[in-house]
Amino acid sequence: MSESSLMVRNLNVAYGESKVLFDVSFDVAPNQIVCCVGRNGAGKTTLLKSVAGFLKPLSGEVTAGGDNLLGRRPYDVARMGIKYVPQDKKVFSDLTVRENLELGSYATKDYNWDTVFEFFPKLKILIDRKAGFLSGGERQMLMIGRATLGKPRVMLIDEPTEGLAPSIVTHLKQVFGELSKSAALVIVEQNLPLVCSIAHKVYAMRDGRIAAELQGGALKPADCEPYL
Ligand SMILES: Nc1ncnc2c1ncn2[C@@H]1O[C@H](COP(=O)(O)OP(=O)(O)O)[C@@H](O)[C@H]1O
Ligand SMILES: [Mg+2]
Repeated sequence: MSESSLMVRNLNVAYGESKVLFDVSFDVAPNQIVCCVGRNGAGKTTLLKSVAGFLKPLSGEVTAGGDNLLGRRPYDVARMGIKYVPQDKKVFSDLTVRENLELGSYATKDYNWDTVFEFFPKLKILIDRKAGFLSGGERQMLMIGRATLGKPRVMLIDEPTEGLAPSIVTHLKQVFGELSKSAALVIVEQNLPLVCSIAHKVYAMRDGRIAAELQGGALKPADCEPYL
């Protein structure tokens, strides 16, 4: 079997005294789209933040293509090609789209924005607009577009379609399909029809544990519903 793009083994994470993740293990193969579903508070964001280096797990193993990620700082994890797109659509509001992309380029040394504009032509039109004046969908485009700089091997995307119009959801779905040609994707997502149409594999989380692993393909929303 080929090496996993991302492998998590027996990850345990706590906020202070309060333990939130319990022996979480999962695998993402190259070019795979893995979706993570579960109720609010199940631990999905905590899982992504732990992989991305924002939280310090109590124990466990996290590797990408065999490289250890555990104990590394967020900046180093990102530099290793593991990009995290957080749930709160935080861009630099006072900076323009161009300046936001420049920051991404500066961090990755990737100054080619062709792919960004291929995925999101609208960003080219909005290039001089301050990010604070973008709609939710446009901001999500900017965040995902910026994260594609540096040609990441893994993208961790937290609830990308939350609160977005159906047309933007359809657009993002196409983008995820394209992105998976060059990266492995882990997407936390509550939109079950979307999950079922893009996921090669679904992990359902409940109370900080992986409650089920479901194979994609013929998956139906009803298969995931018990975990929401
Ligand atoms: N910064 C924090 N400090 C303490 N507890 C937190 C913090 N962030 C999240 N939690 C708790 O951890 C659990 C998992 O939260 P989270 O990972 O955000 O879940 P999800 O993304 O699945 O909604 C919840 O019980 C939440 O209250
Ligand atoms: Mg969350």
